[in-house]
Amino acid sequence: SFRAVVVKGIHLHPFPLVESNINNYVKFHAREDDVWIVNWPKSGTHWVYEVVKLLITGREELTDSIKEGTMFPEACAVESLEKLPSPRVLDTHVPLKLFPEEALKQSKIIYTIRNPKDAFVSSYYHMKNNKGDLYDGTWNGYFDLTMDENTCLYGSWFDHVADWMEVLENNPNALVVKYEDMKRDLKKEVRRIAEFLGYPKSEEVYENVTTKCSFGHMKKAKKEPKSFWKPGGSMYRKGIVGDWKNHFTVAQNEKFNTIFNEKQNKLRVSVDFDIKEGTM
Ligand code: A3P
Repeated sequence: SFRAVVVKGIHLHPFPLVESNINNYVKFHAREDDVWIVNWPKSGTHWVYEVVKLLITGREELTDSIKEGTMFPEACAVESLEKLPSPRVLDTHVPLKLFPEEALKQSKIIYTIRNPKDAFVSSYYHMKNNKGDLYDGTWNGYFDLTMDENTCLYGSWFDHVADWMEVLENNPNALVVKYEDMKRDLKKEVRRIAEFLGYPKSEEVYENVTTKCSFGHMKKAKKEPKSFWKPGGSMYRKGIVGDWKNHFTVAQNEKFNTIFNEKQNKLRVSVDFDIKEGTM
């Protein structure tokens, strides 16, 4: 199984004090200019975070932001979140039922979606290569644990997307961004994000943010904490669309597609499994 802490039935990354931090969310004071980046893991968190930070501050974010309490507030005490200057950019993978209620009513939310098959593969390598002993089994074992809603991390992908999309679909304070759209035309998504946030910028700025947020640049520029990865591990692994085809067996793909087809109408968002990079 995955090494996790179970809070209200959801398996979470075992950050120290994660349970009390989440329970303290009732004391969390949302701000109107907070920007939340929410997603099922490995669906573009760091990428969108970098875009948002560059748009807001004009600077690259090269620090280990978990320490500052911005990335993953569930890893931080509510009190330390209070001390962060506005506008705060906060990331979380929690399913809707664990999200602070006030933030849902008052703050901006960017929900990112990635082809779940690619997110599974990315998450598998994240867990294997992370020093936190999160998972040490095979891909097949990972697949079974992640398809099972009782053992997967951060809740099932299907429920995560369905529950979040239900509240975000017609919410003017929410924007849905797809990983595959960013791969296809990053500048277009940068502009969309800027306009949504109310920070419209010049073409030159969009161009600069797009360059700074290319996979190659981010992989090179970001300082990844050494304490975090085993040799060879990185938050910037491949950064491509379709790596699932190198991992899913035919049977796994069929099992996934069967469930996907059953639940598709609840997702309220199209997910294209066969997008080819650089086409369309
Ligand atoms: P892979 O493991 O498939 O390479 P998260 O930030 O949510 O943890 O997601 C990490 C995934 O996003 C990794 O996927 C990583 O390579 C990819 N990623 C991060 N920055 C990227 C960028 N600038 N362009 C494309 N993919 C990026």
